[in-house]
Amino acid sequence: MASIIAAIIVAALTIKKSKASPTNDPRPCVQLEVPVSIDTTAIKWLQPKVDNNIEAVDWVRFQTTRTSPNTTESAIGQITIKKTFKINGQLCVPPKGSKSSILQIATHGGGFDKRYWDAEIKPKEYSYVQAALAEGYSIFTYDRLGTGLSSKPDAYTDMQLNIHVEILRALTALARSGKLISASKRLSGSKDAQLTAYQPSKIVHVGHSIGSITSVGLITHYPAESDGLIATGFLHTNIPIPGLNVGSWGFEFARQSNPVLFKDHGSGYLVSGTKYNIQLNFLRAGSFEPEVLDYAFKIRQPIAVSEFKSILTAFGPDFGKFEGPVQLVIGENDYGVCGGDCNGTYSLDEIKQIYASAKDVAVHVQPGTGHGLTLSTNATAGYKVSFEFLRKNGL
Ligand SMILES: *[C@@H]1O[C@H](CO)[C@@H](O)[C@H](O)[C@H]1NC(C)=O
Ligand SMILES: *[C@@H]1O[C@H](CO)[C@@H](O)[C@H](O)[C@H]1NC(C)=O
Ligand SMILES: *[C@@H]1O[C@H](CO)[C@@H](O)[C@H](O)[C@H]1NC(C)=O
Repeated sequence: MASIIAAIIVAALTIKKSKASPTNDPRPCVQLEVPVSIDTTAIKWLQPKVDNNIEAVDWVRFQTTRTSPNTTESAIGQITIKKTFKINGQLCVPPKGSKSSILQIATHGGGFDKRYWDAEIKPKEYSYVQAALAEGYSIFTYDRLGTGLSSKPDAYTDMQLNIHVEILRALTALARSGKLISASKRLSGSKDAQLTAYQPSKIVHVGHSIGSITSVGLITHYPAESDGLIATGFLHTNIPIPGLNVGSWGFEFARQSNPVLFKDHGSGYLVSGTKYNIQLNFLRAGSFEPEVLDYAFKIRQPIAVSEFKSILTAFGPDFGKFEGPVQLVIGENDYGVCGGDCNGTYSLDEIKQIYASAKDVAVHVQPGTGHGLTLSTNATAGYKVSFEFLRKNGL
């Protein structure tokens, strides 16, 4: 059967390291701290602890050794997760227009934070947020739990994919009810009243890599809670998943790798040690600018060990119930998902069978591009393909 997934990775780019935009940000955006309460269960995983670089490499060895316990065998118990996390997000609502009532909620993948969607470097060429606003959409981006300015909880127990799904669900419900801003602490940005009162009529979920897995998790658990899905850096392939490519990250223990950037990341958080690991996972020679690689390294973020263990816990029981349109977007040369060449690794007919009730199902292969779609030259031409897909489907 078509293997699901792929990827573990995620990339991203974006913006600034803190405090988000100044109050004179000319964009119609507001920066928020959203409290999100979770009450669910997660899995206790058999895996080594990581508190230094040597243990980080040993965790990779354990994870990729031929005879190590597989996913089923390493799930050794259940734990209850009942906590409130702080999620840092940015809501942008363009002046009233044909599409501002459609809200895109974008979830970034592993290795980055919400800046993946909103590069400060050459935003016209790379920022997905800018492109969505120019197209008239409203857009909410947020730092996934454990990244950016959001809470950095226990990497072994709290940082699991089904928790990410529950957080996305809660954010979606808040947005749909028009209470995203009133329920949050307003940190900075536009004070526009129309923004404060914003309530979307439709919500499209956009993801990248782990963020796509999270978004697919949402529509397979709660199919009525989304109006459309754009899953980027994600594909259902017919090839084996190569150990989730954990080796190519060049992982170090985040806090040892950079004690300043990652002072708040505790035991069990990993980060790529060099920019060349980011190149291998996210970029493809010929379709990236060296300064963008430097930028990607500058905005890199840690990943928690249990995010890798728990990938499959994202998915709900039924892919066949979602009725909105589904577009999967993949770089032709995605390394983690397709082993560097997506040609011939999937069947559109099989993917249509997976999303059996979807209004429309499409796969877009972005030419000459790696896993980090927003970091690649020609990124905006790819965004246009997704906007056209949404338009065609009334979104
Ligand atoms: C994992 O190991 C168990 C028992 O050793 C086996 O039954 C199962 O098929 C293996 N594979 C997966 C993907 O769980
Ligand atoms: C994809 O693979 C097929 C055969 O394996 C080949 O004919 C075709 O040219 C390839 N396409 C690209 C874009 O590489
Ligand atoms: C840029 O992307 C668009 C949309 O996918 C594609 O049609 C075009 O061929 C790409 N250009 C290059 C040079 O790859």
